[in-house]
Amino acid sequence: MEKLRTLLALILQVLYSCMAYSASTNTFFYQDVFNANGNGEIHFNGIKLQVETPLSSVFALRGSNVTLPCRFWYEPPLNSPRRVRVKWSWSPVTGDREVDVLAAIGHRYRSFGDFKDRVYLQQDRPGDTALVITNVSLSDIGRYRCEVIDGLEDESAMVDLELRGVVFPYQSRDGRYRLTFPDAQQICMGQDATVATFDQLYMAWQEGLDWCNAGWLADGTVQYPINRPRHPCGGLGLAPGVRSYGARHKHFHHYDVFCFSSSLQGGVYYLENPLEFNFTEAVRACIDDGSQIATVGQLFAAWRFLGLDRCDAGWLADGSLRYPITTPRSNCGPHKPGVHSFGFPPQRSRHGVYCYSSR
Ligand SMILES: *[C@@H]1O[C@H](CO)[C@@H](O)[C@H](O)[C@H]1NC(C)=O
Ligand SMILES: *[C@@H]1O[C@H](CO)[C@@H](O)[C@H](O)[C@H]1NC(C)=O
Ligand SMILES: *[C@@H]1O[C@H](CO)[C@@H](O)[C@H](O)[C@H]1NC(C)=O
Repeated sequence: MEKLRTLLALILQVLYSCMAYSASTNTFFYQDVFNANGNGEIHFNGIKLQVETPLSSVFALRGSNVTLPCRFWYEPPLNSPRRVRVKWSWSPVTGDREVDVLAAIGHRYRSFGDFKDRVYLQQDRPGDTALVITNVSLSDIGRYRCEVIDGLEDESAMVDLELRGVVFPYQSRDGRYRLTFPDAQQICMGQDATVATFDQLYMAWQEGLDWCNAGWLADGTVQYPINRPRHPCGGLGLAPGVRSYGARHKHFHHYDVFCFSSSLQGGVYYLENPLEFNFTEAVRACIDDGSQIATVGQLFAAWRFLGLDRCDAGWLADGSLRYPITTPRSNCGPHKPGVHSFGFPPQRSRHGVYCYSSR
């Protein structure tokens, strides 16, 4: 008997220290346990919990705030509101993992990982559980799951977040087809961009992108968009479309890449100087002007979203020479809008420069 009492005391002590521990490190879930208990038993006979996201996808610009709608209700309606738990989670386009974004009970919530302090619930009306993401980043795209938990009932709905942006092909300075998949990821990141998804490339193809070199996409496949069938891009026999080589080996195979960039905070401008700059001087000149030499992604974003149009080739951070045209005209390169490239000239040659300022 004495032994049993000691054992019980010990168990209680362990339990107590566990609770004390969780109370200090994880207040939210500690409370959760008590709420579930305090909420009484669940009466779900004949009552159905419904969760819905009215849109299957939502588009946003980088840096903006976006609302992913979601709501829940009961059928038949309940007379008194119930305290539910809401959980939002996210799967990136590239992976099958799902990570926690936000968990809430009532008006209390916690956010996690990359979403920490960047998300909240809208809760405008009863049943409203829309997720607001502030300062949307390129890597936020993917599938979001809105889950509502009432006791043992648990329903969820999905909504995709997409970004409006611009897709651009990128070729290594060493020439065509030099990039493994990890190289491709690195390159796009260096251009203030991410490796494009198939959906992003497809949308760019619909808007007229035509490119005869195959490039990596975020899912590890290699594809290229053709609007004007021709030799040697698959030949005249093939219809326009996004053509796929399928999934390639991420370390052994080498291609170009399609990068994706969205809108820009700040702007890109051409820095005038009658003497022009070699590459080292160009980097310096932007710094002296209170900014930085622009990346390829920033130039594409400024062309696409700010209408940057300039008939002067300028250095960019990767050592390439490009210029952005929104209104094609004579003596200004190809007769179509785009960011046109002169490749990677010798670094001692003299040109203008495009600088990026975040203000
Ligand atoms: C986004 O939301 C935050 C917090 O609610 C606010 O401070 C900020 O001004 C909003 N940004 C934009 C671009 O609306
Ligand atoms: C928005 O996020 C970017 C990184 O994605 C960061 O550099 C920038 O400072 C953030 N802006 C605000 C207003 O928090
Ligand atoms: C650019 O010119 C400066 C002199 O103004 C020189 O020191 C530098 O080496 C040159 N850079 C290149 C890449 O030629």
